[in-house]
Amino acid sequence: MSNLSLPLGAKGSGRARYAAAMDLYQQGRISPAVLEVYRIASARDGQDPAPMLAEIGVGTVMAPASAADQVDRLIDAADRYIATLSGRGVAEVRAGLNLWRGGEVHVTPKANAVVNQHLAAALAPLRATHLALAQSIEAATPYLTWITYDGYPPDEIGADFAQGHAYASLIGEAGNILARDYDLGIFLIAPHVLYRDHHHAAPELYAPLTGPHGWRFGPKTPLIVKRAHHPVWNDAHRPHMTKVGPTPFLALFGWISDVTQVAQVIPSPDWPALEALRLDP
Ligand SMILES: [Fe+2]
Repeated sequence: MSNLSLPLGAKGSGRARYAAAMDLYQQGRISPAVLEVYRIASARDGQDPAPMLAEIGVGTVMAPASAADQVDRLIDAADRYIATLSGRGVAEVRAGLNLWRGGEVHVTPKANAVVNQHLAAALAPLRATHLALAQSIEAATPYLTWITYDGYPPDEIGADFAQGHAYASLIGEAGNILARDYDLGIFLIAPHVLYRDHHHAAPELYAPLTGPHGWRFGPKTPLIVKRAHHPVWNDAHRPHMTKVGPTPFLALFGWISDVTQVAQVIPSPDWPALEALRLDP
């Protein structure tokens, strides 16, 4: 799995081990102290880091992460990210997250065509600004239960959205960690898709990791373009609509109550124009 286990003495192996340790450190998988051991050992290809690791109480660094670990790490990374945001809903979403995290992680992997097609393009810009979060999403993705929701009447929600989105619940009634009346997950929508005006009982936080995207909060209200990392809070039944830009929409979402009440579409005559609209990058 890694250059960390290159044979001692192999030419260049000290530096290669240090580079591999740096990757693990950036993923949050080893501590600064462990990284320092590999830095010291990088000077001589024949130097075994194991005795120094033992001195600081570290046995095996390379125990491979399980699927449940990857999901847990994504939840940790999501919490760290949401903690950097300010505004309404942030505290409530984190309170629910911290209430339910630590529960048993159930893994039911479900691959998804939208994820296969669009996740990489969403993660590329995120990697530049939030490397650890992007890596934890990438690492957990094969183990998540990705769903393209089919509960909206197709003629109301439109074919673009019906076929162009996927989400995975991390903590929730059908999440990797079971919760009641709470939902934390990750949401992906293909470029240029219009997620038509709708509302639902659940008060909701969107934490978009990509951008720009257009939003409006009721038909006949103006489209507001928001960049990545500007959260949106929707009170219960507040109408909202999302127009995806050229980069796929990738967001964390949190529903803090009334999670089993289904969303309703709000008809608007300007959907064809909004569906044809192309936002600037
Ligand atoms: Fe919503």
